[in-house]
Amino acid sequence: MDIDAVQLITFSPTSTSKRVGEAIVHGTGISSVSSVDLTLKAKDEWEIPSRTLAVVTVPVYGGHVAPLALERMKGLRSDGAPAVVVVVYGNRAYEKALVELDGFVTKLGFKVIAGGTFVGEHSYSSESYPVASGRPDADDLEYARLFGEKIRTKIAAAESMDQLYGVDVRRIQRPHQPLFPLFRFLRRVVKLRKSGVSMPRTPEVDAERCTHCGYCVKHCPAGAILKDKECDTVAEKCIKCCACVKGCPQKARTYDTPFATLLSDCFKRQKEDRIII
Ligand SMILES: Cc1cc2nc3c(=O)[nH]c(=O)nc-3n(C[C@H](O)[C@H](O)[C@H](O)COP(=O)(O)O)c2cc1C
Ligand code: SF4
Ligand code: SF4
Repeated sequence: MDIDAVQLITFSPTSTSKRVGEAIVHGTGISSVSSVDLTLKAKDEWEIPSRTLAVVTVPVYGGHVAPLALERMKGLRSDGAPAVVVVVYGNRAYEKALVELDGFVTKLGFKVIAGGTFVGEHSYSSESYPVASGRPDADDLEYARLFGEKIRTKIAAAESMDQLYGVDVRRIQRPHQPLFPLFRFLRRVVKLRKSGVSMPRTPEVDAERCTHCGYCVKHCPAGAILKDKECDTVAEKCIKCCACVKGCPQKARTYDTPFATLLSDCFKRQKEDRIII
């Protein structure tokens, strides 16, 4: 059988999830492509036709799917369209995120036919404390493209929608994690928590650098930066996604958390992307 179209659905404050999704979509070779980016706003009730392949790519926050991504996908429905679920994480761990996304998308009415876990540069990564810096790199994107090709082959091999079988994403192979750095990380997290040092609730702004260009106001997914008040951040709204930090042309915004030091130190070994199909 063949499929009529492919629909990318993504939430991606710092664009790594989006780039992985675009490479997968490209790899499918399906010519009719549409893309819905839910980073800045949700889409009202919308239905994906059953002969459209949905590719859903979202970031991992705290071992879960970023909560705002799930919130933004609430209006999505389908009556059995095949879906590919992908979580993108910053080289630490994705924990429950893939299983969570699978369950969420299945409940919306999709049939999950493939899954993936890809590594993206950590939102907290900086020049001083790099964490998976530059990922997804060319190899990751090529792997994502090949994943797309495999998905197309799987669809072509099925004679009907009923024969297009689903996958159990719980069976995906976990990336190799050396134990020593993991224990070192856990020990240091406990120590950090005991020391009472708190995580900053928002990025800091260097008012002397800020030119009030408005980029951060436009690109904040949570509406936490207000026009003419670009040097402030509404802490209650901020999801610490670092879109404003990475996108500020003046480098006026920084998010320095002691957590980034730990991540940079303990997760130097680059993890592999994984797929299940
Ligand atoms: C609040 C927050 C929590 C995060 N938690 C995790 C995590 O638990 N594990 C991990 O490996 N990366 C974590 N990350 C890193 C992101 O998953 C990673 O940078 C991802 O590539 C961001 O996707 P995006 O570019 O689509 O926004 C976290 C990032 C943020 C902002
Ligand atoms: S993007 Fe940077 S320079 Fe522009 S308004 Fe925001 S903080 Fe200021
Ligand atoms: S203010 Fe907070 S939510 Fe908005 S872009 Fe910056 S880090 Fe993300």
